[in-house]
Amino acid sequence: MTVTDVRVLPVLPVPDGVVLPDMVVTVALESDEARAATDSAADGDLLVVPRVEGRFARVGVIGHIENRGTLPNGTPALTVRALGRARVGSGVVGATAALWVEAEPVDDEPTTEEQDEMARRLRAAAKNLLAKVGGRPLTAAIDDLDGPGPLADAVGYWPDLTLDRRVELLETTDVGERLRLALSWVEEALAEIELRDEISRKVTEDLDRNQREALLQRQMQAIKQELGEGGESDDDLRTRFDALDLPETVRSVVAKELDRLDSAPAESTEASWIRTWLETVAEVPWGVRSAEEIDLDVARAVLDADHTGLDKVKDRLIEHLAVRKLRIERQVSDDRAGRRSGAILALVGPPGVGKTSLGESVARSLGRNFVRMALGGIRDEAEIRGHRRTYVGARPGRLVRGLVEAGSMNPVILLDEIDKVGADWRGDPSSALLEVLDPAQNHSFRDHYLEFELDLSDVVFIATANVLETIPGPLLDRMEIITLEGYSEQEKATIAHDHLLPRVVTRNGLLPNELELVDGVVERIATDWTREAGVRRLERLLDTLARKAATRVAGGEAPPVRVGVDDLGDMLGRPTPRVQTDERIDRPGIATGLAVTGNGGDVLFVETAVVDGEGEPLLTGQLGEVMKESAALARSLVTSVGDRYGARSVQGRLHVHFPAGAVPKDGPSAGVTMTTAMISLLSGRKVRSDVAMTGEISLQGRVLPIGGVKEKVLAAHRAGIRTVIVPVDNGDDLEDVPDDVRDALDIHLATHIAEVLDLALEPA
Ligand SMILES: Nc1ncnc2c1ncn2[C@@H]1O[C@H](COP(=O)(O)OP(=O)(O)OP(=O)(O)O)[C@@H](O)[C@H]1O
Ligand SMILES: [Mg+2]
Repeated sequence: MTVTDVRVLPVLPVPDGVVLPDMVVTVALESDEARAATDSAADGDLLVVPRVEGRFARVGVIGHIENRGTLPNGTPALTVRALGRARVGSGVVGATAALWVEAEPVDDEPTTEEQDEMARRLRAAAKNLLAKVGGRPLTAAIDDLDGPGPLADAVGYWPDLTLDRRVELLETTDVGERLRLALSWVEEALAEIELRDEISRKVTEDLDRNQREALLQRQMQAIKQELGEGGESDDDLRTRFDALDLPETVRSVVAKELDRLDSAPAESTEASWIRTWLETVAEVPWGVRSAEEIDLDVARAVLDADHTGLDKVKDRLIEHLAVRKLRIERQVSDDRAGRRSGAILALVGPPGVGKTSLGESVARSLGRNFVRMALGGIRDEAEIRGHRRTYVGARPGRLVRGLVEAGSMNPVILLDEIDKVGADWRGDPSSALLEVLDPAQNHSFRDHYLEFELDLSDVVFIATANVLETIPGPLLDRMEIITLEGYSEQEKATIAHDHLLPRVVTRNGLLPNELELVDGVVERIATDWTREAGVRRLERLLDTLARKAATRVAGGEAPPVRVGVDDLGDMLGRPTPRVQTDERIDRPGIATGLAVTGNGGDVLFVETAVVDGEGEPLLTGQLGEVMKESAALARSLVTSVGDRYGARSVQGRLHVHFPAGAVPKDGPSAGVTMTTAMISLLSGRKVRSDVAMTGEISLQGRVLPIGGVKEKVLAAHRAGIRTVIVPVDNGDDLEDVPDDVRDALDIHLATHIAEVLDLALEPA
């Protein structure tokens, strides 16, 4: 910068304003200081300095008075032409009352190339900005500006520039710095304008869309009315509610909402929310009930007609209904309000044994409507209880939807697969189910969407599950468990003939006698093509047969289509491979046990070996804590009873492995099998491959009772086992095993592990 001679000038303060070089401005002389300064400006020059918040800027401009006059309001004023910048120096005692200071003129230094470049960018940006705000006529003025310094100063004309920035601009005597500042502010202004444009474009778009939607909605309503469907007017809604048998509490809530709807603008979102809510409430089958009477004879007849066998289960169901009937008739109540209740039934058993279809059958036997609520995979509470109305797309929970679907307030609701619910639930939705299942609470079930209480106490709830373990304890406590085990081959065949076959035949468009299965075919399919506790796959295979038969009949073959055992390979493909127990037990140290899983009973193998190390047996194959204790017990028994069977002592550590590691296993019932496998290993005597066993053991070698006997025996039979060893105290459970299976098997009741070993180990 070039510094020329310092001058002493009177200061003209400009309150809250900034005068930059080259500006010609009119300054009102409002203060004594200002008037004094003007009077003192002998040669017409003074130092024009901004005063912001009572403080003078450090730099001002030397101004030359062009004109003196008065403003329309009578205030004296000056027209000043700003020349160059001058630094405000120290004050001096001057000739008049004005404030005199040393003014040190600072002129812009010659520009550098870099500054020229920056000036080009600033010019472009400024023009851009002007174009955006409609100041195009001013762009010519920008071109006229002489050099980078004045160009940067011109930014001071920008009306939106803050006072602070103007002062900063004035105080920045370095041209390069001033350019940088100016450029950054212009770019900032540009960005802001672009953002504002963007927002306003969006708003316009939204407005357009809303208008379009409103228009479409009106058109749709018109179309609906034209077609005579839906499009209920609000008056219709009112009439509809008048006809409904609403509980008093609900009626008052509804009335309030109807009034809200009247006062809400017709096309508003709020109105549409209220309307949806009201329509949902109107859909609930208020006061609609199917037969309340329970006729036990009819019920039994229906259950028998729908399902073969299952006598015990049917007995339990009838008992349950009998209790319900008496409680209703005698108005037995569980609480002071006089409400009825009763336990919730849960049907538990492997897949395909008829749990779901029994639930449906119960509904039929009661003459009630039926709805199935699939709970498998449900993850959050809102599914059961609904979303609060404030949620976008809120709707009631499954229970309310279930009632709507049922069309009555006292249906049978099947809570299907309640055991699949606990697994990955979030936000504790089981509490909602708890409320439903608790007879003391379910007369006042609250759906988040409806927001009022619903009486569910007349709903018959039936739950189904494959396993009990994954059902949350509190839920389990409220249920009366009825277990369904698997079927024997004989039972499956009967079910197939009575129910499955007639069903698949009709389903495939055949007449009842057009598919003829030779005697023994169904049994053969069940034994060789399926390995299941229930009849699900069997039904699918029969369906395949019926489909093939239908194809042939449709192709011109004269019915009936006869299917014999020899045709099965062609029609169904290869049989399901059997568990080859004799191949699995190829050496000492392996024994066949029996277990119950979610799929029913199954055979499981226990493999043992001696490995390096010492201490507790090493266990592998996803085993639980109880299993570990059981293994330790077996290990101790080996020492005490092993001698009799020629078992040598363990040199190292025993390793016990349960193959099929993906399935978690726990429970004490493999104790007998582990002991047998260990003694087999140490004695070198193989375990007979046609023997399977189950039972807990005590430290003295006693065989203790276990659960799931029927399932286990059925599984052994399916696997082609001939001898089954069960604890003596489970003797009574064998009564549940179907005759055909009991006859086919050699079932031994064992008291002590020695009996097991005598039977199971091959001779030395
Ligand atoms: N005892 C039976 N008498 C007649 N039909 C039966 C019997 N058991 C099962 N079924 C039939 O077998 C099919 C499968 O039964 P269902 O779907 O009820 O099994 P589920 O026990 O619910 O199995 P999942 O646990 O897989 O849900 C149904 O068509 C059912 O009618
Ligand atoms: Mg089912």
